[in-house]
Amino acid sequence: MAAIFCRQCLPRAWLCRRAWQGCGRHYRAAICAELKKPLTIEDVAPRPVGPHEVRVDVHFCGVNFADILVCRGQYQEKPHLPFTPGLEFSGTVLETGTDVSTVKEGDRVIGMRNFNCMAEECITDQKNLWQIPEKVSLQEAAVLPISYGTAIFALEHRAHTQPGEVVLVTAAAGATGLAVIDVATNVLQAKVIAAAGSDEKCKLVLQRGAQSSVNYNQGSLKDAVRNLVGEGGVNVAIDMVGGDVFLEALRSLAWEGRIVVVGFAGGNIASVPANLLLLKNVSAMGLHYGQYKVTKFHVFSKSLSSLLQYCQQGRIQPYVGMVFKLEEVNDAFLHVIQGKSVGKVLLTLK
Ligand SMILES: NC(=O)c1ccc[n+]([C@@H]2O[C@H](COP(=O)([O-])OP(=O)(O)OC[C@H]3O[C@@H](n4cnc5c(N)ncnc54)[C@H](OP(=O)(O)O)[C@@H]3O)[C@@H](O)[C@H]2O)c1
Repeated sequence: MAAIFCRQCLPRAWLCRRAWQGCGRHYRAAICAELKKPLTIEDVAPRPVGPHEVRVDVHFCGVNFADILVCRGQYQEKPHLPFTPGLEFSGTVLETGTDVSTVKEGDRVIGMRNFNCMAEECITDQKNLWQIPEKVSLQEAAVLPISYGTAIFALEHRAHTQPGEVVLVTAAAGATGLAVIDVATNVLQAKVIAAAGSDEKCKLVLQRGAQSSVNYNQGSLKDAVRNLVGEGGVNVAIDMVGGDVFLEALRSLAWEGRIVVVGFAGGNIASVPANLLLLKNVSAMGLHYGQYKVTKFHVFSKSLSSLLQYCQQGRIQPYVGMVFKLEEVNDAFLHVIQGKSVGKVLLTLK
């Protein structure tokens, strides 16, 4: 739930200690007050940080499919209204709680929360923050937590992608899709067949490192993949679309192939024909990336640290397709939901 506190609610001691911040200081936040209705931008009074918490001056916040679903009441997590959406951010540390030891004022960080990131300020526990290395910009860093985190978990942790293997990725010009191409090609040394819904998107995925591309709105994905790799098929498929595209990707797998269910951007959830798994010793698996933060935090944290290092070394290059201002958040949601976006869509808070 968004931190909507009035000045009178705050302890007197805290107000005195924070006198430098100015009494009556507010920050702007996107608010979902009613499901399926446009978000509003409101002034919110800050609350004090707890002992383990950090206040971050947010520079960029990612716009994700999940944000839109949560504001429609269609996501697995359903926060109480009103709330501020937003799962990830990059920014600089403004203030630290008394027991914070991992970051200090002025540090550049990325962070992940369940909500509350689409705001000029965000308070989070210190364990949800990772320091940005010097060569990585705040804009690039904002792409890493969800899109690149999902990509590396799907490819490495779930599908165990090996060097030289062939990876098929759907919705390949989207935020996750481009991250999959980047990580598969430049970190795991795999070869990527990128499937997307228009010729422009297919052009982009080739520029971003895919070996070949397929426009799945112009014929059968399975036939196009067979033309590229022969009867053998692909070793790994990462599917973000669902429905028939998922089934065609499943049918494109090689012997002992692995398919990872990442999303249902097309709106349909396919049923898995179990005979297809048996015939070619194929594995179908799911990925709920955010849940790793809860269940396997050390693996989750290590992946994000690795991604920041890969970015620092220039091995991966996040692609930002569009940056909207906070007050354009509803336009940003529309841009994503209409499938118009390429690469990552961000909100800038500056
Ligand atoms: N499981 C997880 O932990 C996890 C993590 C991150 C994302 N996801 C999911 O993965 C999917 C992709 O996320 P993303 O961030 O990459 O999204 P994105 O950048 O907005 O890309 C989504 C792409 O999906 C394709 N698409 C197909 N049918 C669509 C439709 N009916 N409406 C809109 N787009 C459609 C479009 O590409 P084409 O035109 O090329 O088809 C679109 O560009 C979403 O479903 C998201 O919820 C899941």
